[in-house]
Amino acid sequence: MAIELIKTTDYAAMSRRAADVIATCLESDPACVIGLATGSTPIGLYDCLVEDCEAGKISFAEATTFNLDEYRGLPGTHDQSYRYFMDKHLFDRVDVRKEFTSVPDGADPDADAACARYERAIEEAGGIDIQLLGIGHNGHIGFNEPADSFPVETHLVELTESTINANSRLFEDIADVPREAYTMGIGTIMKARMILLVASGSDKAQIVRDTLYGPVTPRVPASVLQLHPNVVVVVDEEAGSLCG
Ligand code: F6R
Repeated sequence: MAIELIKTTDYAAMSRRAADVIATCLESDPACVIGLATGSTPIGLYDCLVEDCEAGKISFAEATTFNLDEYRGLPGTHDQSYRYFMDKHLFDRVDVRKEFTSVPDGADPDADAACARYERAIEEAGGIDIQLLGIGHNGHIGFNEPADSFPVETHLVELTESTINANSRLFEDIADVPREAYTMGIGTIMKARMILLVASGSDKAQIVRDTLYGPVTPRVPASVLQLHPNVVVVVDEEAGSLCG
């Protein structure tokens, strides 16, 4: 299997180890193309990259980034948008050129145009060198939820009621929670030359195991990573507790 599993002790160690993988990419190719994720898991990793940048060990000055996903209907200035999240946790704290950072354009109501433009921009940048992923409890990556088939390209998704309910804690009113999102497809993710998946906490242990050792099925979208030639999975002790 082409998946390398790296077990670390805790969230801080997981964050540091995963940040080192990205730092190594930047060191070997300062103009590399990095795919990024939001969610709570990568926040510590972003803090580590900020530290490395401040210490002069790495620079994002020549790098290009593409995020996995964005809510449809939220402008990047909205504090729940993924653009806002990335500015806050990484982009505003490192030397990246903002115009070389991309998040799907949630403010564009034309889903087909917005998604096709995003897919084309990734291709024009030469494809993604390393794609960072978190994982949902049901195995979702990006907003690719369990389904009957693997969605290929960047596309529009309707959020499930459970995702809308879970997200409503972050909005004043449940009516304000976006119902839709744009996300890279499984095909977009699989085209990345290297994939770095991070997972933390005992609530992720079962899905990490299913992802690495279960059948490859669109019912567990992350299981498709078993078919990718270059995947590194960095877990803390709890998330890795059911793996060997
Ligand atoms: C984030 C994303 C999601 C998250 C996943 C895990 O851009 O696409 O797939 O990676 O929901 O989220 P956390 O890290 O909050 O458990």
